[in-house]
Amino acid sequence: MPSPTGLVIRSAEDADWPAMVLLAATCFGSFRPREANDMWRTLMPADGVVIACDGDDVVGMAYYLDLRLTVPGGAVLPMAGVSWVCVAPTHRRRGVLREMFGELHRRMALSDYPIAGLEASEGGIYSRFGYGQASVVESLSVDRRGVEFLDEVPDRGGVRIVTPVEHRDRIEEIYERWRLRTPGGLFTPRQMWDQVFGDREEYRRGGGPLMALLHDDGFAMYRIHGDSERKTVAITKLAAVTVDAYVALWRALLGMDLMDTVTIEAPPRELLPYLLTDARRVRLTDREDGLWLRMLDVPAVLEARTYAADATFALDVSDGPLDGGGRFACEIRDGRARCVPTDAEPDVGLTLSVLGSLYLGEHRASALAAANRLRCNDSAVIATLDAAFATDVPAELGFGF
Ligand SMILES: CC(C)(COP(=O)(O)OP(=O)(O)OC[C@H]1O[C@@H](n2cnc3c(N)ncnc32)[C@H](O)[C@@H]1OP(=O)(O)O)[C@@H](O)C(=O)NCCC(=O)NCCS
Repeated sequence: MPSPTGLVIRSAEDADWPAMVLLAATCFGSFRPREANDMWRTLMPADGVVIACDGDDVVGMAYYLDLRLTVPGGAVLPMAGVSWVCVAPTHRRRGVLREMFGELHRRMALSDYPIAGLEASEGGIYSRFGYGQASVVESLSVDRRGVEFLDEVPDRGGVRIVTPVEHRDRIEEIYERWRLRTPGGLFTPRQMWDQVFGDREEYRRGGGPLMALLHDDGFAMYRIHGDSERKTVAITKLAAVTVDAYVALWRALLGMDLMDTVTIEAPPRELLPYLLTDARRVRLTDREDGLWLRMLDVPAVLEARTYAADATFALDVSDGPLDGGGRFACEIRDGRARCVPTDAEPDVGLTLSVLGSLYLGEHRASALAAANRLRCNDSAVIATLDAAFATDVPAELGFGF
């Protein structure tokens, strides 16, 4: 079939990588260190990298990583993690991304990935491709001078100051427990941990060396930013699998007398403001989408998670240029769903993107219905969807990719 853009769309070969690195640096505004590229390449399946060529020039690229995604209830799905999507400024807005995505998603389907995920550089690009915002990231900044915990908050201790690389096994083991209970959690392969604990200067973003606080059921890794006048503790990862661990780690973080601010990127519904005498100390400085999800096999993905209420409904799921979706009858009993293709009249009409937003429980059907993005004439069905898709543990992406 002739290419709609007149370009050659093909798999990348080793010899293409220098041109791809240059294209990425042009599009994203910075060079990624060679070691990082080598590390990410170990996670790409053989046919997972697509490039667009204009003669000898690489003018577009996109790849996917072989990842493992935790869904509500703890099941783990193979996920095609899309990244490094870029099109040269000389070739933009003439359908190159659309054509590359067609090819990339054909390959994912052939490899039987039930779901694809990505993080978006801009919020307006990916809904049209059936991706929905599935997790939310809030940037919090805690003004820690004079901060006090409420008397009724337990103070059980149990936190040690450690050198991260010397406690790598413990940190990995706790992360493993955390990611299996957290929707959006990702299995972290050894080579990624090597990069974390390698703590190279170029990944520090102006901060100091990686530091860590360790509890039996949680850890916080962080860097100190700033100068002698003003110092910030920037948490790079806090994972706690018990409330005790969460509270103890925050007590230690906010107990660093000479630090001014502690920052973290966290999912909504954070517990911290409830622990303090003055909840205003925890300021929300930014809020963004985190993980975006596109279901490639709708019944398999809906059946993989658990649900918080019984429900019966038929969905009419529409899609854009990648042509997925369909009609599905779903029956949820005792926390598990059975979903099959159907010809029955649907109760609910929505896009694949909106279904992706519902999936990890972070966005409610009623809000999407109020915005007319989910169409349903029966308010009882909407209330049932709200109840069924609700989750106890907020969705949080395991790591950026
Ligand atoms: C984003 C980018 C990949 C788009 O590539 P492109 O080849 O220009 O996109 P296409 O021409 O195939 O556009 C496909 C559709 O997406 C829309 N679109 C493309 N870029 C968009 C953007 N930044 N914001 C909103 N919509 C966008 C197009 O308008 C088009 O819409 P349509 O379906 O209504 O016609 C390219 O601009 C780029 O490389 N940007 C810088 C790097 C980047 O942000 N990459 C994404 C990383 S997650």
